Amino acid sequence: MQETQSLGSAVVDVIRQLSEKKNDAVLPLHEPEFSGNEWLYVKECLDTGWVSSAGRFVDRLEGELASFTNSAHAVAVVNGTAALHIALLLSGVKPDDEVIVPSLSFVATANAIMYCQATPHFVDVSSTNLGLDAVRLNDYLEEISKIGTDGKLYNRISGKRISAIVPMHTFGHPVDMDAVLEVAERFNLIVIEDAAESLGSYYKGKSTGTFGLFGIVSFNGNKIMTTGGGGAILTQSKELAAMAKHVTTTAKLPHKWSFDHDIVGYNYRMPNINAALGCAQLELVPGFLARKRLLAEKYSKGFQEIKGLSFLEEPAYASSNYWLNAIILDDEDVLARDEILRITNEAGILTRPVWTPLHQLPMYSNCPRMDLPITESLHNKIINLPSGPSIVG
Ligand SMILES: Cc1ncc(COP(=O)(O)O)c(C=O)c1O
Repeated sequence: MQETQSLGSAVVDVIRQLSEKKNDAVLPLHEPEFSGNEWLYVKECLDTGWVSSAGRFVDRLEGELASFTNSAHAVAVVNGTAALHIALLLSGVKPDDEVIVPSLSFVATANAIMYCQATPHFVDVSSTNLGLDAVRLNDYLEEISKIGTDGKLYNRISGKRISAIVPMHTFGHPVDMDAVLEVAERFNLIVIEDAAESLGSYYKGKSTGTFGLFGIVSFNGNKIMTTGGGGAILTQSKELAAMAKHVTTTAKLPHKWSFDHDIVGYNYRMPNINAALGCAQLELVPGFLARKRLLAEKYSKGFQEIKGLSFLEEPAYASSNYWLNAIILDDEDVLARDEILRITNEAGILTRPVWTPLHQLPMYSNCPRMDLPITESLHNKIINLPSGPSIVG
């Protein structure tokens, strides 16, 4: 316990020393920052009355997001979860299918699969990048799956079709996409990237979210940029982008006044006022990225001498947005983790544990899964650190 207390105090010291804020300032996990054209653009919506389902900011945000990520198309929606839902539906995920997903993720990744009446099939992650471990996935799929006479992949145990795979870029650190794409191709799986956390992260120079049939990003208040609540679907296909737009806008057929809809659509369109906020925030993202990188460098240096933990660095092949910084304890010790969380939070440093692994949540406990030793161990070892750009000025 003594050791844990001094580790907790050491973490507090490192963070207080690198922060530009006063020593008693509360350091949130990731607060939004509005230091650009936010007031101007939102005011325009209020002044003109264009706050809702029409207005110029939605198209503008979609265009600018597509350029920023070098994606052919972007469709703005109400949140990242809705983006995932539609991406899965348009990828052809059907009721009763299984979809491969890391158990170490935010609950939305699995929820969106359930919205399609499909089942999440949980797989383990790599201890170095915290993303899907493609090598173990390959071995696992060889063992438990088979290609059916229809050319599709089936789970030998459940008999269900496995239709897609959803790699997630944890805390902004890109998954090893080459390895994931290779497995996906070998087993005939459609790739949908959950890049909710990784806007501004690059895998071998290419934006995360642009590798799969679809990628999605989130603009929730805690993300690198925010629209209040919001998200976007990225795709390289003109047809799929048009379908995504159609389905997320109640499938309304264009007409000056008639209300005609050709399929059951969703009211997932991002309101113009949120898109206005998003346009202003996207202008700030390059600056946020630079300051977050500086913060990560300071964390990395500050934790170098501290025994008993290591700072999570970006993978060598990637440039990460360092959305959430993390330290990983050397030993799997939930009491030590909780004690460090207590000490830091009492000192006004709002550290957090990682999500409870999805297979341990009651509604997902009976889902198919491989052995998940890395996920279970990481759950007891990860502590997320305050990561907003304002910590370094
Ligand atoms: C990995 C992951 N997937 C999906 C989401 C869902 O995004 P949203 O909160 O915008 O619905 C989030 C974040 O909130 C996330 O972190």
